[in-house]
Amino acid sequence: MAKLKIVKFGDPMLRKVSRPVDTITPRIQTLIDDMIETMRDAGGCGLAAVQVGVLRRIVVIEVEEGKVYVMINPKIVAFAGEQQDNEGCLSNPGNYGITKRPKAVTVKATDRHGKEYELTGTDLLARAICHECDHLDGKLYTDVQIRPLTPEELS
Ligand code: NI
Repeated sequence: MAKLKIVKFGDPMLRKVSRPVDTITPRIQTLIDDMIETMRDAGGCGLAAVQVGVLRRIVVIEVEEGKVYVMINPKIVAFAGEQQDNEGCLSNPGNYGITKRPKAVTVKATDRHGKEYELTGTDLLARAICHECDHLDGKLYTDVQIRPLTPEELS
């Protein structure tokens, strides 16, 4: 596995729309392993392939230690409720904002073995799913934030 360089806010790459994956090749498997390692090393709870410079619809999420969700071609199929909380991004280190997101989200995705699955997440997992799926369409949390956290709130 290898640690990859994370693309930062301001890079036009992050505004691009990622392409679907149709075949899960060994290269894609390696990319997924590297994304997991990169996310963990950076102390994040989610990472999209575009953040490591690959415009494919792949997301990894780990909001609970040891429980990694790999989502290939994820699609949010249902959402409910509302929550407001802090949100950050590994592409925007040290910054956070308050965002409004659904309280619960159901996503359909393919896992790394090519099996389709459906997952419903609430709270932090719901936020992570929304945040990472947005990356695949070139959207950033700052597009939907209500306001950034102030330096006082950050310290
Ligand atoms: Ni992000």
